[in-house]
Amino acid sequence: MSLSIVILAAGQGTRMRSAMPKVLQPLAGRALLGHVLVCAHELGADDVCVVYGHGGDAVTKAFPGEPVRWCLQAEQLGTGHAMQQAMPETPDDNMVLVLFGDVPLLTSSTLRRLLEATGVEEMSILTVDLDDPTGYGRIIRNGGDVERIVEQKDATADEQAVREINTGVMLCAASKLKVWLAGLNNDNAQGEYYLTDVIAMAVADGVPVHGIKADSWTEVMGINDRKQLAEAERALQARLVDELMTQGVSFADPARVDIRGKLTCGQDVFIDVNNVFEGDVTLGDNVRIESNNVIRDSNIGAGSVIHSNCHIESSSTGSDCEIGPYGRLRPGAELANKVKVGNFVEIKKSTVADGSKVNHLTYIGDTEIGEGVNVGAGTITCNYDGASKHKTKIGDGAFIGSGVNLVAPVEVGNFATIGAGSTITKEVPAQELTLERSKQLTIKGWKRPVKKGG
Ligand code: UD1
Ligand code: CA
Repeated sequence: MSLSIVILAAGQGTRMRSAMPKVLQPLAGRALLGHVLVCAHELGADDVCVVYGHGGDAVTKAFPGEPVRWCLQAEQLGTGHAMQQAMPETPDDNMVLVLFGDVPLLTSSTLRRLLEATGVEEMSILTVDLDDPTGYGRIIRNGGDVERIVEQKDATADEQAVREINTGVMLCAASKLKVWLAGLNNDNAQGEYYLTDVIAMAVADGVPVHGIKADSWTEVMGINDRKQLAEAERALQARLVDELMTQGVSFADPARVDIRGKLTCGQDVFIDVNNVFEGDVTLGDNVRIESNNVIRDSNIGAGSVIHSNCHIESSSTGSDCEIGPYGRLRPGAELANKVKVGNFVEIKKSTVADGSKVNHLTYIGDTEIGEGVNVGAGTITCNYDGASKHKTKIGDGAFIGSGVNLVAPVEVGNFATIGAGSTITKEVPAQELTLERSKQLTIKGWKRPVKKGG
């Protein structure tokens, strides 16, 4: 039977106290709703519908090209009302799986368990036992199956003592759900149309409602405020780091790393404390990441070491490179193998070939550096004339002395040597020593100025 998934994401999220719609709040670098969408697509549903409303276009615009049916709930009158908006276009013959945009840590494997356990004539809801169930809808059972759900604000003291709660995940036949939704009213403490009221209607129609328990409570946490957002962040980080450790990655402290995207690691990678990985990052075999680095959308080749306090973005290194401490690779820095980039060096949109070294206090931009080059301390490629960027080319084996300005566009020949302190504006011939300096003078008998009257 075909599957429709409806994700409810129209609520404002008042308790978040934010100008941003709740489902766009970031968790591990991705919007809450983004996590739910990944999970929905993993199930391979034929039809995925997102009900949006508060924040309007901000939500749809955050997911350009997403293969879903967007459905507007202009006024947010409750979860039942939200489902009513989604149902007209949902095929009668489908099973419908309801997910909440603010329950982001659900896994597709748990949902598959639910799908497998539910027949066409049955209904299932995902539940979990909580030590502190405050705020959630409580599951009232008849000894076996579920009889109804009562929301926190409508619950009696006895009902509030129930620790089994509704996660929001629900599965049943579309044709039946349409009928039940049409019968909802908002006669309750919040004056809302509750989706949870369909449970009692299903039971009245003789449809058995199974309460299937999730394996862990973190998986089904609903995010309503900043505390829960932070808690979910930690839970997700722990999950990501666990997966990497299972694959053979070592962390100095699994609690002190943040992965905001996809981190792919080879064998025997070591990651020290306080590293942040953003976007798509790949670390080759035996890579060592020392403490306090930010690495975004980059590939670090096998055997390379990133010393402390580097910032690396949209860059790549080959094997056995060494960066930092305090190195900065800006977008388009492409290092080949055995390249060394030392302290306080910034490299942007440049290639550095095998075995070259740029060790201290240097800016390299829009440059092609050959093999075995040594760039001396304090060298600057002057790539910008105030209007346009220009290129520098440094040939294989060149030796650039300390404090050299290379005013682009300019080329340095193979095995050329440039004397320290030179400002180079013209082509530097291969093999030769080139200098650009004024003569050193000594003024005999010169006296330092002294303060008058002092
Ligand atoms: C809901 C459930 C509760 C459950 C809890 C799990 C109901 C009535 N209550 O409560 O049983 O324990 O989730 O986390 O269903 N939404 C809309 N349109 C609306 C209202 C809400 O799309 O008009 C969306 C929200 O964006 C959110 C989801 O539905 O993604 C849940 O809404 P929320 O207001 O957070 O419900 P809870 O009070 O948490
Ligand atoms: Ca909620």
